[in-house]
Amino acid sequence: MALVTTEKMFKMAYKNGYAIGAFNVNNMEITQGIVSAIAEKKAPLILQISRGARKYASMSYLKAIIDVAVKENPDIPICMHLDHGDTFEVCKQCVDDGFTSVMIDASHHPFEENVKITKQVAEYAHKHGVVVEAELGQLGGIEEDVVGLSHDEVANHLTDPDQAIDFVKQTGCDSLAVACGTSHGAYKFKSEPKLAFDVIQAVADKLPGFPLVMHGSSSVLKEFKDLINKYGGKMPDAMGVPESAITKAGKMAVCKVNIDTDLRMAMTAKIRQVFAEKPGEFDPRNYLGPAREAIKSMVLHKLDVLGCSGKAAECL
Ligand code: G3H
Ligand code: 13P
Ligand code: ZN
Repeated sequence: MALVTTEKMFKMAYKNGYAIGAFNVNNMEITQGIVSAIAEKKAPLILQISRGARKYASMSYLKAIIDVAVKENPDIPICMHLDHGDTFEVCKQCVDDGFTSVMIDASHHPFEENVKITKQVAEYAHKHGVVVEAELGQLGGIEEDVVGLSHDEVANHLTDPDQAIDFVKQTGCDSLAVACGTSHGAYKFKSEPKLAFDVIQAVADKLPGFPLVMHGSSSVLKEFKDLINKYGGKMPDAMGVPESAITKAGKMAVCKVNIDTDLRMAMTAKIRQVFAEKPGEFDPRNYLGPAREAIKSMVLHKLDVLGCSGKAAECL
């Protein structure tokens, strides 16, 4: 089957209390690791591409890799999503390039400007059968070229539930990324992880049936953090979103959970381990292969946390 939008996935995820994993792809091994896990678990999938990924690998290579994944897995619904598009022009280009979902992230602009840009993207995308994710409120951490809020600022920029209704009505977006205390990257909390479930619930109450998205949702798994620190890395203070919080959000209105850092850490941990144990290794297949396996095992586990294992058929 061809690439799909998130429409049916979100409908089923909302109704049945689970979330779809949206995994960032930057190269073939990452994509293969993710896709072999979803094929084994029969889970619906969102593969997302950031501006940084396009710059690194080029759109045509990434699209070709994803096309193979779609062709080889006709029983799995796969959506190709633009992660954090920052202008109308970028989103338009991605619609034209064959994405089935785009995110317009104009959340750093004042409310009115965010509405204006998001509405423009939604009108264009909808004309072409593409769905749109938007963002209201601001996250912390670091994305390529965009420095998010600091730990202390995050709590002051959570999504305002009253604004959320106006925003969705005025823009016509199809899903909304909410700022609920998460941030991008491997250092999400200074001490105790704290998520604003009250914000998620309040937005959900005001927008019944409307799918919400959680960014910055990697868990910084102990297994990979320990391997990185053991084999010459230095990430002692890395801390992510507890997996119990991910499962809980999926049972609420959160239908899409974004994961990139956990992929990066799985890959890095394995490569570091191979180099430490075999200093003479110089065949990329012998370190990228184990890295791809580590990604697969991380995603297999994550699909159970999200609750979307075995849900591919109902999302087709
Ligand atoms: O939004 C953050 C994602 O982890 C993508 O990061 O822009 O460095 O590819 P990136
Ligand atoms: P993490 O850094 O927690 O993996 O978040 C990724 C993300 O939100 C991509 O948009
Ligand atoms: Zn994000």
